[in-house]
Amino acid sequence: MSTNKLYFQNDLVSIFNEDVRKTTQIDAGAIDLIITSPPYNVDIQYNSHKDDDSYSDYMEFSRAWLGRCFDWLRNDGRLCLNIPLDKNKGGQQSVGADLTCIAKEIGYKYHSTIIWNEGNISRRTAWGSWMSASAPFVIAPVELIVVLYKEIWKKSSGSKVSDVSRDEFMNWTNGLWTFNGESKKKIGHPAPFPLELPKRCIKMFSYVGDTVLDPFVGSGTTLVAAAMLGRKGIGIEVDKGYCRLAEKRLLDAMGGKTSDLGQE
Ligand SMILES: C[S@@+](CC[C@H](N)C(=O)[O-])C[C@H]1O[C@@H](n2cnc3c(N)ncnc32)[C@H](O)[C@@H]1O
Repeated sequence: MSTNKLYFQNDLVSIFNEDVRKTTQIDAGAIDLIITSPPYNVDIQYNSHKDDDSYSDYMEFSRAWLGRCFDWLRNDGRLCLNIPLDKNKGGQQSVGADLTCIAKEIGYKYHSTIIWNEGNISRRTAWGSWMSASAPFVIAPVELIVVLYKEIWKKSSGSKVSDVSRDEFMNWTNGLWTFNGESKKKIGHPAPFPLELPKRCIKMFSYVGDTVLDPFVGSGTTLVAAAMLGRKGIGIEVDKGYCRLAEKRLLDAMGGKTSDLGQE
């Protein structure tokens, strides 16, 4: 493995400072589980990524990185794809459905969709035509976690050791997940997801010791969850400042602060 794009590495975790579409750092068939939240193309002010492409360019960007990830998965590997249901900024789009279709065209098989109820209704700013049927504006305050896999849903590789508790399993197999989003200010990144999201996906869909990849690692939330749960983690991030943040969060978390990942 060449190390020129390697930003950070320890026994469990590697972070590559690179564009996911161009990296040559990951071997085909090396990944058990991918958990990621790609840029949503809603004009978020990232340091190094322009988040306001045309919708068709955004679909091509999505096709490119989803294709790379497909090659990196094992045959029984899985993808938990955190994306919006709908996009409203710059015109209504069925972005969740469109990205799911692209993934299926690439070859992913569809398992199910988890609805993440963020409970954040304060984002509502537009009503359309107020109290009139002329052009009302409807928005669901949820995001999706689309669960896809490469070839075979039943896992045959790995340690066969699961660490999900009975209560967690019973609660999380109900695909309506309710927990709050993460504070951008607290984390220092414009679009972090909460630790709860990768924690649930890791415990539900991987064995202890598996390798988990986040190709848009941002502030490193997936890597923190992976390291705390005894999985190997690989992160890819185009922005060096966010790589630095991910490294810091990871080292802070591994320095003993593990209580927020305990069983429910
Ligand atoms: C929605 S954020 C991910 C946030 C992450 N889940 C967290 O908890 O912090 C998307 C990230 O993808 C990064 N990014 C954008 N384009 C990229 C590319 N082509 N390759 C790798 N990373 C990219 C952005 O810099 C941003 O940090």
